[in-house]
Amino acid sequence: MIILKGKKILVTGGAGFIGSNMCARLLVENEVYAIDNFQNVDIRHVKLLSASERFHFTRADITDYSTLDPLAKNGPYDTVIHLAANSDVRGGSVDPLTDLRVNVQGTYNVLEFCRKTDSRNLIFASSSTVFGEAAVLPTPEDYGPLMPISTYGASKLAGEGFISAFSHYYGIRGTVFRFANIVGRNSTHGVIFDFIMKLRKNPRDLEVLGDGSQRKSYLHVDDCVEGMIFLNGASRKTDVYNLANSDTTSVMDIARYVSEGLGLKDVNFRLVPGEGGRGWKGDVKLAQLSIEKSMKAGWKSSISSNESVLKAIREVIPQLT
Ligand SMILES: NC(=O)c1ccc[n+]([C@@H]2O[C@H](COP(=O)([O-])OP(=O)(O)OC[C@H]3O[C@@H](n4cnc5c(N)ncnc54)[C@H](O)[C@@H]3O)[C@@H](O)[C@H]2O)c1
Repeated sequence: MIILKGKKILVTGGAGFIGSNMCARLLVENEVYAIDNFQNVDIRHVKLLSASERFHFTRADITDYSTLDPLAKNGPYDTVIHLAANSDVRGGSVDPLTDLRVNVQGTYNVLEFCRKTDSRNLIFASSSTVFGEAAVLPTPEDYGPLMPISTYGASKLAGEGFISAFSHYYGIRGTVFRFANIVGRNSTHGVIFDFIMKLRKNPRDLEVLGDGSQRKSYLHVDDCVEGMIFLNGASRKTDVYNLANSDTTSVMDIARYVSEGLGLKDVNFRLVPGEGGRGWKGDVKLAQLSIEKSMKAGWKSSISSNESVLKAIREVIPQLT
């Protein structure tokens, strides 16, 4: 049983949405080394974390190994939490190379860093997009064949493969988490963030990508962070877990909740459906993950998908004003 208490932990992407929440949680009981290249951050989140003496931040780029090298002197790290990535799922169809560079080469560099510093416990943020359009819903971890429909999903699947191989070759224990849609404070992207920003610009009209019927499972970032910490501790070997809620929420419901949260009435929801009603090329219209494995291991989220969305809206609106 690995307990993240009194440990030295490296968090890649530590200034990002999930990363800043993870660092805040870890700082209560651990020494936290965070790296980020500021590709996609709100600097206010890093400033808040920097108030703690246990927080050590280095600007580094996971695609350039030489920028990781200076961090080796503090190794080995008890745990490396690899969250840095190109998180723009939508951009892949016009720029597929970024997913290869950041999510595949970057993950490889992080694994090399673990090997060279003898850091033997790795947590990896993968995604439900590795499943593609799964024929089985809710989709269990052992579903196959894995046929992603976005380069983002493909790059996460490649990352999982490298982790499995490094685990076999070099004894780096990896816990892979296939996240649903994570929502909550410090968001800098995602459907809730997008809707709030659009409605701030024009409170009467909201562009909704897709036919609005897309249904996905949403998980609050607090549950995401606690789930990662718990399940990494619970498993003895390299393993993979879905991290999600069992229920789903539709995009139209989120549009309504955000409008209500902003106190707006009579908003015109302007649907912009792509092929087959998708939001964009590579969008999986119906994503529902099986949570049986994580429940058997002893973990379940504290609130449902709908409650996660509503809580996130309450948290993000004041952060964006
Ligand atoms: N948010 C979700 O719903 C969700 C769902 C599935 C998987 N994930 C995965 O979880 C992880 C965290 O996601 P997030 O939502 O917090 O995204 P995010 O974009 O807020 O965080 C990623 C962080 O990585 C940093 N980064 C990007 N390229 C980098 C590079 N080359 N070197 C160093 N840092 C770099 C960014 O600046 C950012 O701070 C990512 O791996 C993402 O793919 C997120």
